[in-house]
Amino acid sequence: MYSVSDCKIVDLSKVHSDAGNITVLENNKNVPFDIKRIYYLYDVPMGSERGGHGHYELEQFIVAASGSFTFVLDDGENQKEVFLNDPSKALYIKPGIWREIKNFSSGSICMVLASQIYSEKDYLRDYKEFLNFKKL
Ligand code: TYD
Repeated sequence: MYSVSDCKIVDLSKVHSDAGNITVLENNKNVPFDIKRIYYLYDVPMGSERGGHGHYELEQFIVAASGSFTFVLDDGENQKEVFLNDPSKALYIKPGIWREIKNFSSGSICMVLASQIYSEKDYLRDYKEFLNFKKL
């Protein structure tokens, strides 16, 4: 079982020029899994919170493509807050971690690279069920 300390910020590096930056994400290179799905959260109203679930198997790479927001990670025993505001960094979320997302800045874009296609069966949406899965 993974803990919040296994969820790390990964430096994606960037190709910099006077005309701007490029950051590249590649399967099994700087992304440590096969990317099966990409989605992004945007137009999140001020004050809204998202997430509030865990996943049985899904691995995710989270990038603040624009703006900023905060992920609150929870393994059932410990919590960790991660502030994301840099498109050249990703937060790697391992399976079996509860997350909430808050403090979206206006116009922010939360891009998510995922190791599996969407499946509602992979969600743990009930916190008690999550703790039970974590054997806590
Ligand atoms: P959810 O992952 O619960 O959103 P968040 O964690 O950002 O609050 O997804 C919300 C809804 O969006 C979900 O009930 C179904 C739909 N959805 C898809 O159809 N496909 C997807 O890949 C995702 C991420 C969500």
